[in-house]
Amino acid sequence: MPEKVEATNAEISGGQATSRRKFMGYIGLAGAGAALVACSPQNPPVVELTPAQQAAKQDLEILNYALVLEYLEAEFYNLFAVGGKYAANLKLDDVKKYAAEIAGHENSHVKVLTDTIVSLKGTPATKPTFDFSPLIGSKPINDELFLALAATFEPIGVRAYLGQVARLTNPALIAAAGAIHAVEADHVSAVQELRVKLGFNKQPNRQTDIAPQSVAKPTSLVAGDFDADYSPTPTAFWKALTMDQVLAIVKPVIK
Ligand SMILES: [Fe+2]
Ligand SMILES: [Fe+2]
Repeated sequence: MPEKVEATNAEISGGQATSRRKFMGYIGLAGAGAALVACSPQNPPVVELTPAQQAAKQDLEILNYALVLEYLEAEFYNLFAVGGKYAANLKLDDVKKYAAEIAGHENSHVKVLTDTIVSLKGTPATKPTFDFSPLIGSKPINDELFLALAATFEPIGVRAYLGQVARLTNPALIAAAGAIHAVEADHVSAVQELRVKLGFNKQPNRQTDIAPQSVAKPTSLVAGDFDADYSPTPTAFWKALTMDQVLAIVKPVIK
């Protein structure tokens, strides 16, 4: 790991960082602009990015943000796919098939984002340690729980990409983000179709543009307030989530 990133992590682990800064340690301080923000206090540099450097830095921050979210999705599905810790907890063939297929997609998303960041001379974010137990609680780990969690994570991914597309400056990256965003939306519908088919979805006709947030608490960022029951074709226009909103949602599962 480059010295500049180690310095940043040491600073973050010093306890003075806010949650946002800790998260930004994963997503924001690796890449084109990092050298310019990591010089020693004894020798303060003149920090002035050109507009092109600033644009490149912003793109890398967004790519690393997406990478962390894809790490999360990939780890979740890998836990339930063949060879995963919870693979034996899935009993239904359709569900096992979805776990394997979507795990493959998420692992591909991790790879393409990592490769893209490297190709742009950035440093891919380190994979965080995830712990999904705050979402699982005392619930039995089974097909129904797996699909409910998938129906929670997937629209967050859709809305997270939506929140960043207009902030990307490189047209090629906008196209790539759009391509992944579309697949996340496919995941939303596929998972929800299966939940309907299996009788797990109590509101299969509910239209919503803020899933997994609920009607009762539409602005809550707490998983306990979310509602995974919505239509497999949930909306005409999704509402975006900002980085801060997504951070607040995923923070409980990042150790
Ligand atoms: Fe993904
Ligand atoms: Fe996904």
